[in-house]
Amino acid sequence: MTLKNKRIVLGVCGGIAAYKSILLLRLLKKEGAHVRVIMTKNAGYFVGPTTFEALSEKPVCMDLFEKTDDAAISHIKWADEADAVVVAPATANMIAKMANGLADDALSTFLLAVTTPVLVCPAMNTNMLLHPATQRNLETLRSDGFEVLETDFGKMACGTTGPGRLPDAEYILDRLKACLFSKDYEGKTVLVSAGPTREFIDPVRFISNPSSGKMGYAIARAAEQRGACVILVTGPTALEAPYHVEALPVDSARDMAKAVFENMDRADVIIKTAAVGDYRAKTQADQKIKKQNEELVLELVQNQDILKELGARKTRQFLVGFAAETRDLAANAGEKLKKKNLDIIVGNLVGSPDSGFQADTNKVTLFFKDGSSEALPLLGKDEVAHILLDRILEKNGN
Ligand code: CTP
Repeated sequence: MTLKNKRIVLGVCGGIAAYKSILLLRLLKKEGAHVRVIMTKNAGYFVGPTTFEALSEKPVCMDLFEKTDDAAISHIKWADEADAVVVAPATANMIAKMANGLADDALSTFLLAVTTPVLVCPAMNTNMLLHPATQRNLETLRSDGFEVLETDFGKMACGTTGPGRLPDAEYILDRLKACLFSKDYEGKTVLVSAGPTREFIDPVRFISNPSSGKMGYAIARAAEQRGACVILVTGPTALEAPYHVEALPVDSARDMAKAVFENMDRADVIIKTAAVGDYRAKTQADQKIKKQNEELVLELVQNQDILKELGARKTRQFLVGFAAETRDLAANAGEKLKKKNLDIIVGNLVGSPDSGFQADTNKVTLFFKDGSSEALPLLGKDEVAHILLDRILEKNGN
């Protein structure tokens, strides 16, 4: 959980979308963040401070001159302590104030004192958004270094249809996390393969494996949040593709190989987490295979080893493989690292419920080309993803 124990300030302005900031607050709290809410007086007409107070478990700041001991300086204290700030919804009025350095209420005063990343999430009537003054102000905020989200297009509360809607809380949360990472993958393209493959034996049956794709998706998400351009070649999974990645869905190992080889030249880093089927049916029946004899023998032929082929073809690419083993992890992973000409192989012993295919956590050991290794403790797959991305940069001489 990348927001665990982070100090986040949620600024809420007076717009109909203020109710969505309640959902955002709940998501932030679920992630383990410490959230303080500053709301404008107008926001109070849409959602009462008591709701934010109850959900954030902290007093809400609405007024610069509240009758508490340190109210007048709390905006400076909060600004100093914040790891990141999100203003959702940000109204045209607040955006105008921010763009011009005005400080005439608690939120705008606080925002002038903040030095940590600020994510601005505009939400307003379409005409207000498209007004040249608002567009000019948004441009000013961007050039001042604020992260400004695009609004969603759709039906507005006022009845019109157009841009101006506040994006979903899940998306705002994802972008807030992205704000907290240094963009150390900016300018790099990372190709990730994820999930299982399916080898059909007839139109209704296939051979596959229980890979959930969670590890590969976590890597794709982490790389995107760190500024990479991400290509995700994915077998069938139940997961939503991470935001802003180029997802290329495939079924069989041969589909996966085609998508990977077609895109490998664009990639600076290739990470193959996919659990590729080693074999496919020698012939795929056109019609459903009918139940006949007591025994049915399936003839299988080997699929191409995509990773090995990448190792043979690679030029500048930094190549990372995964090795799921049931025993002799170091020996098996080390052998695959050499045989497939990899830079890093991530080995894990599958079998325990908290590590492997379906779990949200993973316990892996990184084996490096120079013969060294690093055993990681049991971690969330997103944490494993970030450590792997760190090591790739270190080993790649960045
Ligand atoms: N891999 C691949 N193409 C295949 C098989 C595996 O690209 N046809 C890749 C996987 O994506 C993974 C690595 O090779 O990154 C190791 O996969 P794994 O299944 O652990 O090993 P295999 O090489 O298939 O060997 P074995 O099944 O004998 O352990």
